[in-house]
Amino acid sequence: MLKINEHYLKLQASYLFSDIAKRVAAFQHAHPDKNIIRLGIGDVTKALPPACIAAFHRAVDEMAVDSSFRGYGPEQGYAFLREAIAQHDFQARGAEISADEIFISDGAKCDTGNIQELFSSEARVAIPDPVYPVYLDTNVMAGRTGAFADGRYQGLVYLDSTAENNYVPKLPNEPVDLIYLCFPNNPTGSTISKAELKTWVDYAKANKALILFDAAYEAFIRDESLPHSIYEIEGAREVAIEFRSYSKSAGFTGTRCAYTVIPKECAAYDSAGNKQFIHPLWNRRHCTKFNGVSYPVQRAAEAVYSDEGKAQCKALISGYLENADLIAAAVKELSFDYIGAANAPYVWIRCKRDSWEFFDMLLNKAGVVCTPGAGFGKCGQGYIRLSAFNSRENVVKALERIRQALA
Ligand code: MLT
Repeated sequence: MLKINEHYLKLQASYLFSDIAKRVAAFQHAHPDKNIIRLGIGDVTKALPPACIAAFHRAVDEMAVDSSFRGYGPEQGYAFLREAIAQHDFQARGAEISADEIFISDGAKCDTGNIQELFSSEARVAIPDPVYPVYLDTNVMAGRTGAFADGRYQGLVYLDSTAENNYVPKLPNEPVDLIYLCFPNNPTGSTISKAELKTWVDYAKANKALILFDAAYEAFIRDESLPHSIYEIEGAREVAIEFRSYSKSAGFTGTRCAYTVIPKECAAYDSAGNKQFIHPLWNRRHCTKFNGVSYPVQRAAEAVYSDEGKAQCKALISGYLENADLIAAAVKELSFDYIGAANAPYVWIRCKRDSWEFFDMLLNKAGVVCTPGAGFGKCGQGYIRLSAFNSRENVVKALERIRQALA
C-alpha cells in the first residue's frame, strides 16, 4: 500500500492566492456584470519593456535557423546573463558576487520553495509572521513542523513583524538554523536598514545559521540608504543566500525568469560537524531537477541591463510606485494606519476588523480584490494588503470605489 507524505495533510486549506482566486471567481460567477478590479496578488499588468521584447524576438529568430538554433542550455543559465547580473546587480553596488555564483531559474517562488531541500529535516526554522506563504508551506511539506494549532505550526520559530517593531523582526531568543528574511517586505512593504541587516548577519555567523534573503522587490527601493542586496553587508557571503526575480522589476510574471545567488563560502554542516559548502549541493540539485530557462527568455532578461532596458524598467517601476503613493494617500485620508508604498509595491493596512471580513466587504461593496492579511500569518489578522500592480486608471477607480464603500 502506497502511503502519502502525511505532512501535506497538515497544510491549511489551499495556497493563499489560489484560495482568493476561487473566491473571486465564485463572486464573478454570481455577479457576471460586476467589474472587478484586482489589487490582490502582486501580478504585473504592464507590457514587457520594449528592449526585452526586441531581444526576445531576435532570440526566437535565432531558434528558427539551424546554424543559430540552441538545444539544452547550461542548467545554471547562460554566461551572458550570469555575467550581466554579477556586474550590474552586484559589483556595481560594491557587492563581490561572481557570475558562477548565480543560478538562473524560472522563478523566485520555486527557488525559495526548493532551497530547504538541502537542509536537514531537523533544522530549526525561523519564519517571519506575516510571511510570503511559500517559505512556510514548503517547510510544512518537508516535515519540519508539527500540527497547526491556534493559528501557527508547532515546531517553528515565528518572527513577529508588527507595528511595535516597525515590521522588522527582532533576533530570535531561542536557537535557530535557517532564517527567512524578505526586504523590501512582502506583504508589509517594510524595509530593513544596513545596520539592522548586519545584526542578522552577525547572528547567523555567531550561531552557524543561514539566512535565506528574498530580495525580489529590491528594484522598488527609493531610499538609497537601504541595502539592495544582503551582500552589501560585511560577512554575508558566508551565511546568506539571496533570491532575485525579474517578475516585478521587469514585468516577467508570465515570462518566468529569476535567479539565486550562492556564494562559494556559504556553508552548512554535516552531522559530524564538518563544514559543507552549499554551492555544489545546489548545483547538483539544479542539474538533476532542472534543465534551465529557455534561451529567448534569458536573452530577454539580459536586455534588462542594456541602457534602454534599464530606463524602461525604471519607468515601469516608477509607474507602480506612483500607484502605491496614490493608494497610501487614500488610505491615510480614510484614517487607516498603514506601512509600505515608500519602497515597495504593497500597502499594508490595519483594517480595524477581521481581514477576511474586510476582504469580503471590499469585494461585495466595491468590487475590489485585496489580500487578507490573515492569509500571511497570525500577525496579519486585522490587516489587508493592497497591491500597486494595476493600471493607473484601475487604481484610481478602485480607490474611488473603496471611498464610497466606506462612506
Ligand atoms: C504576491 O502577491 O505576494 C506575489 O505575487 C506572489 C508571488 O510572487 O508569487
